[in-house]
Amino acid sequence: MITAEAVKSFESIQTPFYFYDIELLEKTLGLYVSLLKKYGYSAHYALKANADNKIIGIIRQAGLGADCVSGNEVALAVKAGFAPDKIVYAGVGKSDKEIKTALKAGIFSFNCESVPEIKVIDGLAGALGKKARIALRVNPDIDAHTHKYISTGRKEDKFGISPWMFESVAALLGECKNTELVGLHFHVGSQILDLGVFRLLCKRIAELQQWFTDRNITISNLNLGGGLGVDYENPNEHPVADFENYFDIIHKNLAVRPEQRVHFEPGRAIVAQCGHLISRVLYVKIGQRRKFVILDAGMNDLIRPALYQAHHAIENLVSSKRKMRYDVVGPVCESSDKFGGNIMLPQTQRGDLIAIHTAGAYGQVMSMRYNQRDLAKAYYSDEL
Ligand code: LLP
Repeated sequence: MITAEAVKSFESIQTPFYFYDIELLEKTLGLYVSLLKKYGYSAHYALKANADNKIIGIIRQAGLGADCVSGNEVALAVKAGFAPDKIVYAGVGKSDKEIKTALKAGIFSFNCESVPEIKVIDGLAGALGKKARIALRVNPDIDAHTHKYISTGRKEDKFGISPWMFESVAALLGECKNTELVGLHFHVGSQILDLGVFRLLCKRIAELQQWFTDRNITISNLNLGGGLGVDYENPNEHPVADFENYFDIIHKNLAVRPEQRVHFEPGRAIVAQCGHLISRVLYVKIGQRRKFVILDAGMNDLIRPALYQAHHAIENLVSSKRKMRYDVVGPVCESSDKFGGNIMLPQTQRGDLIAIHTAGAYGQVMSMRYNQRDLAKAYYSDEL
């Protein structure tokens, strides 16, 4: 919810910009961390969701570690003060340079996605005189029932090591002298609202880890990744994700062995609702069949609608006139530069301030300079 006071301060800010509700971020983290404590779980925030300095500082202070997917993210996590033993690093294509960055930083674990990758990590660790801790990112072949571009745990997806590869991984680990297996890692997709998916994941984890137990291979850490979805339709009604049910399902369904630690990698559920893209109406164009609200924010500022046909709630922050139907579009020279089709908004005019909600995750961090447009800056509720 954006307060009337905040809207007043928006008047003097150059649009488009990202607005972060710091109180909501802190409230979200407060609940999340209290549940971690309740169950004795650990979490590594997925930096890819939003790598804004102030935001990651607050998340670090709340006690979360960092989940990274590139050497630069590892370097950023270290620079932002995350303890190296709370940093994990996943990704199907880690380059030698990136692996060396992470080895030198002394991260907790590489989440390894293929047999050749383990070989390369072992070789590079040896050359640097280091021991690499690794977890196997397992592809459990589960359909997360989410958009196909953000589904990662089906056997046709590029991610993870499939169970039929376990034999060769175990043989390889026997030869790797500079590598220590510390756990199993799973991440089956993002924006998952069907919590039954996580129940299924817990069941699959029990089967999969049995394979290792049968061979006397100790799995001391289970990392369940991220993926919990948020309410894009009614953000004001559900500003905080359903963490209680999520952890309850995990707690009831995950067989945790003695001495085993359980980890998570939340991204979206921590930051999505605290971010809004604020824009101004440039023009209202009345077509023959449609009315277009043309914003000064475009797909380069928030690419989710164009890339995943994602829905984001749109609000006119200043008009309370009679509602009408509009297509809300951006200025970029692409027909996919559209934030919403046929949506009801109070009668809108040039200069009105428009908020696109639930933009804190995979919003600013995925923005780009297409059409040579400027990057939107960030503003924070506690600094206005
Ligand atoms: N861990 C791993 C290994 C991941 O690949 C991801 C996200 C996460 C954790 C965090 O997942 P989350 O809790 O945020 O669902 N750009 C897309 C989302 C891509 C997600 C990629 N991986 C979007 O805008 O919907």
